Amino acid sequence: MARFIDELKRTHSCGALRASHADQEVVLFGWVANRRDHGNLVFVDLRDREGVTQIVFDPEASKEAHALAQALRSEWVIGIRGKVKLRGEQFSQKEGKMVSARNPNLPTGEIEVEVLELGVFNKSETPPFEITDRCDTGEEVRLTYRYLDLRRGPLQAALKARHTIAQATRNFLSDTGCLEVETPFLVKYTPGGARNFLVPSRVHSGKFYALAESPQLFKQLLMCAGYERYFQIVRCFRDEDSRLDRQPEFTQIDIEMSFINQDDLFTVIEGLVGAIWKATLGIDLAEQYPGGPDHPAGFPKFPRMRFEDSMRYYGNDKPDLRFDMKHTDITELVVEHKGGGIPFWEPIAQKFADGTYRADLPAEIVKVLVVPASANLSRKDGDELEKLAKSMGAGGLARAKVGAGGEWTQSPLNKMMTVELRDAINRASGAQEGDLIIFQSGKAQLVHTVMANLRVYLGKRLGLIPEVGHGGNFNFLWVVDPPLFEYDEETKSWAAAHHAFTRPHDDCVDLIDKDPGKVLCYRYDLVLNGFEIGGGSIRLHDPAVQAKVFAALGIDGDEARQKFGFLLDALKFGAPPHGGIALGMDRLVMLLTGRESLRDVIAFPKTQKAVDLMSDAPTAVTNQQLRDLHIRTVEES
Ligand code: AMO
Repeated sequence: MARFIDELKRTHSCGALRASHADQEVVLFGWVANRRDHGNLVFVDLRDREGVTQIVFDPEASKEAHALAQALRSEWVIGIRGKVKLRGEQFSQKEGKMVSARNPNLPTGEIEVEVLELGVFNKSETPPFEITDRCDTGEEVRLTYRYLDLRRGPLQAALKARHTIAQATRNFLSDTGCLEVETPFLVKYTPGGARNFLVPSRVHSGKFYALAESPQLFKQLLMCAGYERYFQIVRCFRDEDSRLDRQPEFTQIDIEMSFINQDDLFTVIEGLVGAIWKATLGIDLAEQYPGGPDHPAGFPKFPRMRFEDSMRYYGNDKPDLRFDMKHTDITELVVEHKGGGIPFWEPIAQKFADGTYRADLPAEIVKVLVVPASANLSRKDGDELEKLAKSMGAGGLARAKVGAGGEWTQSPLNKMMTVELRDAINRASGAQEGDLIIFQSGKAQLVHTVMANLRVYLGKRLGLIPEVGHGGNFNFLWVVDPPLFEYDEETKSWAAAHHAFTRPHDDCVDLIDKDPGKVLCYRYDLVLNGFEIGGGSIRLHDPAVQAKVFAALGIDGDEARQKFGFLLDALKFGAPPHGGIALGMDRLVMLLTGRESLRDVIAFPKTQKAVDLMSDAPTAVTNQQLRDLHIRTVEES
């Protein structure tokens, strides 16, 4: 029978001991974080997932343990029995005198444990990198040895936050009457949406499952089945290029509810987010976002912005509102002034001369962004901005410095532009002497995107928001009322902006066949500090309106059946009004813990190239395996 574990049970974690434990005998298990040999005494920092405790080997306490401790090396796994002692004084070389040996930076820093007995569970080879909180070893090495990386404090903190979020979510949603129901991962492939991973069927030659990109259809079917309120913390799979905020497999907090409207759903999500922030950070978001007398007590209430305004002022549907710096759309001014003398604005002005300009439709637009004089941008900084704009596909980036009396300097635009338009732009954008105005014109989507990215870049550059992390500021926003359809310039037809089962606003139903671009819908995104952390919609459950939407999309009965067959059938058998949302759990954890990438908050993530460096997936398989799956691979030349 082994002494440690069998006889000596662990009494405390390595993060638990305080001054109040002095003189107690304890048993600790953990890893050697480091070992310092001070001749007579050997000090070891013993680490487990709860923290670090200093242990001391003194030959006077145990000759045997002290002798054994000479061999200890980093990452050995050991057990000790010892006595908790208050840390006394030690001689400081630096200060040349005795100083307190207490470490105020360590929760267990008041004490140390004098070892009476040592057991070595296992030795360790020298790890490929030092396991410390701050680690500058490249990510590739850390991902290859992820089990070692996961021993580091920041990752442990992130995974604990994840756990707390999952617990808070389950508690809150159960209390709200949601049932946790699992849905299949192996599903029927349906076109549209994100690209699916395909899984070949062994039993059915030549046929494939898709890995579910989300439980969307199933959660709607659960509503049709009368389950009323559902949630699931669920893995989703999307074969798209990874980014810092995108992984091929990721986790959603997925929710669907019957007999609710958009406001009802927002209230539940606000309560959930409030509960998560309270559980993980101890922050009461209701103080920052008070809900008023009609809102459930303690629930925050987040502001809302119309999609059109979000595009107009910030260039995308996920504005970071921790700083202002709005865009000014000057297309209407350019039209009014017939291009104002700028040759490349004249065609834009002509296009809308008949007054058809609409900010929400794809078109050519002109936007400006004012960089305040206080930013003190040099010409070189301006060139940098232009380089950045070009890297996003812009042709260039016109700029003008505002001088005394509103004239523009350092700008080729100055010579061409009429004074009237110049003054109008100064007024509309609020530009003052010393400010820099930057311009972007062309296809709406590109202008919006370039200006949105420049705004965020400048926000960081000017120190208005931190380069990474929340900076102690959590800014939530609902973006609402987007268009149901978007015009696809390639196919010259209307497409569903999200999916074909989103409910249009009642007062827009008549416009579905007459003017699809004007139809707004109950689709919403929840935004936090410039990231989309959730999205959903109130669903379309009325077959007559559904038929109109399909007609506007040019989808005939056969195609609808092929794409959405079983959902369409289910909607015929008494579907309740319903709606839902999915929160991106990984993004939530990333933003809440102030991390830079989803890889910092997922236990075993994939790289940018969708590779698991640790297990080396994906890999080739044998010909026999392929034969079993009725698949032949073709060598790419
Ligand atoms: P959507 O596609 O908007 O909606 O996804 C919901 C949320 O999931 C997160 N997310 C991702 N996180 C990490 N990596 C990814 N590749 C990734 N893709 C999405 C985002 C996003 O806001 N079924 C609908 C929801 C609904 O309508 O109820 C859906 O999946 O934070």
